Amino acid sequence: MIEFKNVTKKIGSKTILENINLTIEKNSLVVIIGSSGCGKTTSLKMINKLITPTSGEIYINNMPISKMNTIELRRGIGYVIQNTGLFPHMTIRENISLIPELKKIETKEAIASKTNDLLKLVGLSPEEYLDKYPGELSGGQQQRIGVARAFATDAEIILMDEPFSALDPITRSSLQEELFSMQQELHKTIIFVTHDMEEAIKLADKICIMNKGEIAQFDTPENILKNPANDFIKDFIGANRVWNTPEFIKAKDIMIKTPVSVSSSRNILQAIEIMKINKVDSLLIVDKSNILIGLVTLKDIKRSTAKETKLEEIMEHNVLSVYEDDNILNILELINSHAIGYIPVITKDNHLAGLVTRSSLISVLSEQFLDTEELSNE
Ligand SMILES: Nc1ncnc2c1ncn2[C@@H]1O[C@H](COP(=O)(O)OP(=O)(O)O)[C@@H](O)[C@H]1O
Ligand SMILES: [Mg+2]
Repeated sequence: MIEFKNVTKKIGSKTILENINLTIEKNSLVVIIGSSGCGKTTSLKMINKLITPTSGEIYINNMPISKMNTIELRRGIGYVIQNTGLFPHMTIRENISLIPELKKIETKEAIASKTNDLLKLVGLSPEEYLDKYPGELSGGQQQRIGVARAFATDAEIILMDEPFSALDPITRSSLQEELFSMQQELHKTIIFVTHDMEEAIKLADKICIMNKGEIAQFDTPENILKNPANDFIKDFIGANRVWNTPEFIKAKDIMIKTPVSVSSSRNILQAIEIMKINKVDSLLIVDKSNILIGLVTLKDIKRSTAKETKLEEIMEHNVLSVYEDDNILNILELINSHAIGYIPVITKDNHLAGLVTRSSLISVLSEQFLDTEELSNE
């Protein structure tokens, strides 16, 4: 865990960072984003003591870093920058294994085998590349080596300062994928600086948006897109940004939270009354603890003539439903492929939570095109 506590940096009379408080959980990937000059690099360089705060303190696993040995600290932190900083006179093998060898913790064999594995992890064949020099590799390949080298140190923490910014979009996108899947496997604590929101959303567990030396919002990508803290954040992420990432729009965001439901011991006559009163043509059937167990439609009811018949005798048992966290794309797909007009939403333990109907979908989708705030002011 890395914590910034009241960290301020002044250079002369200029305030570069103003009272930064930030907690980065162990094994999480935090992206720091903001426009040029807002203090991203300065924040990052404070973690490996390339820059010292004017006041405040940074803690790593509850230890103030000002009290830690700088060389030891840096050996435990991987650092990737834009132009890799590979040593041009060393082979790829030597570049990757340099720090592990300096640390003298692992045997030569262990280091060699790890170097091989890491090269494979970043998508390069060890046989082909281990004995080449950085100058013989393309920019994208060099950057892959930079990433491999950062992971080679067995560092718990990896700092990455716009590592992919200078790459073409295709190479960049494939390196983002590599980094993402490496993180799924290796669970490092990664602080990744970028000025690209797409990249942030793709990689981050949490995003820290900075503005002029201060933290403007620190939250998960989903929460930032759904609840931008202020107009600065809204402008920064772009209006209606959430629509570019519909996977963040969940059933629970668009469902009707009070669907009409009844017990299966109701009879047909009662069901018809309840439908009339609520102006619906189907009823969700739940058991005593509100678990969804069935559905009856007006059609089912009309088929049956005996008005005392209990709903449990005629209800459909296999009701298609979605979970609260299923996203709008899953829901649209189900509604389309089954040609249905609505779909119940259930919790993880099958309790009825709500109902998504075609009209609730339309009202959500129309928000994308109508300025609802303006409408409600009129
Ligand atoms: N050595 C320095 N002397 C004076 N100002 C500096 C120095 N280093 C950085 N700055 C200023 O601090 C601010 C933050 O810089 P930096 O952290 O590099 O921003 P970012 O990485 O977000 O682009 C910028 O306004 C920059 O000009
Ligand atoms: Mg920078």
